[in-house]
Amino acid sequence: MPVDTAVSTPLSARRGGPLRGRARVPGDKSISHRALILGALTVGETTISGLLEGEDVLRTADAMRALGAKVERGGDGIWRIHGVGVGGFTAPTVPLDFGNSGTGVRLMFGAIAGCPIKATLDGDASLRKRPMRRILDPLEKMGARVLDQTEGGRLPLTLQGARDPLPIVYESPVPSAQLKSAVLLAGLAAPGETTVIEAEATRDHTERMLKHFGAKVVSKPHGEHGRRITLTGQPELEPANVVVPADPSSAAFALVAALLVPDSDVTLEAVMTNPLRTGLYTTLKEMGAKVETLATRDDGGEEVADLRVTACALKGVDVPPERAPSMIDEYPILAVAAAFAQGQTRMRGLKELRVKESDRLEATAAMLRANGVTVDIDGDDMTVTGNTAVTGGGNVTTHMDHRIAMSALVMGLASDNAVRIDDSAFIATSFPGFVDLMRSLGGDLA
Ligand code: S3P
Repeated sequence: MPVDTAVSTPLSARRGGPLRGRARVPGDKSISHRALILGALTVGETTISGLLEGEDVLRTADAMRALGAKVERGGDGIWRIHGVGVGGFTAPTVPLDFGNSGTGVRLMFGAIAGCPIKATLDGDASLRKRPMRRILDPLEKMGARVLDQTEGGRLPLTLQGARDPLPIVYESPVPSAQLKSAVLLAGLAAPGETTVIEAEATRDHTERMLKHFGAKVVSKPHGEHGRRITLTGQPELEPANVVVPADPSSAAFALVAALLVPDSDVTLEAVMTNPLRTGLYTTLKEMGAKVETLATRDDGGEEVADLRVTACALKGVDVPPERAPSMIDEYPILAVAAAFAQGQTRMRGLKELRVKESDRLEATAAMLRANGVTVDIDGDDMTVTGNTAVTGGGNVTTHMDHRIAMSALVMGLASDNAVRIDDSAFIATSFPGFVDLMRSLGGDLA
């Protein structure tokens, strides 16, 4: 069921007993999108297990079908794709609607840019506000053309993919895995080497999965924090089995809740621990959190581990800007943890938060202020003044942003008074089952 934006579904969370138990959060959103897209670009049958069946990913599955791939659901999280091969998409007869998903639409601009087809890409009111120019610049250099566009490079946009895409060397102006991935996916159809240089390394799931499907990708360090990634174009992609590990960005909500609610003890299973995704866990440990890593293993090219968290007191810390790419989606929930910590937590270098599903910097600050927490924003930095007791009692506006919604509910589980969100519908974009999972651990959400 697509998210119904016409009706909002408020929800409240209040403090109850401790959170306890074991649970598994749904599959990683980034990997799920990529598995569908690479499966669709490969001739033969790709099988996926553990696919996130959230709204965002289902939109990408629909887009793959509209572009000519055969996509079938075989059971819970089990999907089979018969792809069309690199450059083999057929022109869709209707606009592709990516709903709320920046990852889906941006990656697909890249994949479509390498095919000689025309396609219109669109999304919901939140996605229509988000910048697409950053993706279109390199894709135009590779030979794609934007045929008509809304003012300022916003959706809906019609792209004419390149008949003979050109390989490029692209220095990314922003730390964005979506941008990097779009260029690499377009580069699949180009002859020779396509290179992306990033000053700060971002999540590398596209590179890992391209290798898993048989492409040649070489990643080298670049500067102090960056990487230089080179893909050899026009590979024969081999169908693969993809096992999607549990999403660390979703696990973050249950884990922070367990840290904040006294006497809690929660273990989350098979959480992906790719070091380019675990900045939150590093930060929480610096704050004094007990995050135990149990049973580590390698699952289809990604590291996973069971993570156990027990409630404990936290202290404020300084989070350096270079950590931002490895925890870019986790600042709202980190800000909630910071609100309950002793002292100030300063988070620096948060510019990219302004162009997420909402202006997440402002939305996070407003969420905390509505619940009695002192927050200062200075340029791209945010400082939260913690207090072991948070008043709560606020009404939080979620701005069509799933991560604001879940962060606010976690705050409610630990605050003196219940926290209410205006709309819980968007949680389904990334974490269907969030409410049931939190209730199964003992959380009071109603
Ligand atoms: C994602 C990259 C990040 C992240 C998003 C998922 C991806 O966006 O915020 O949720 O799967 O590549 P940016 O690339 O815009 O930083």
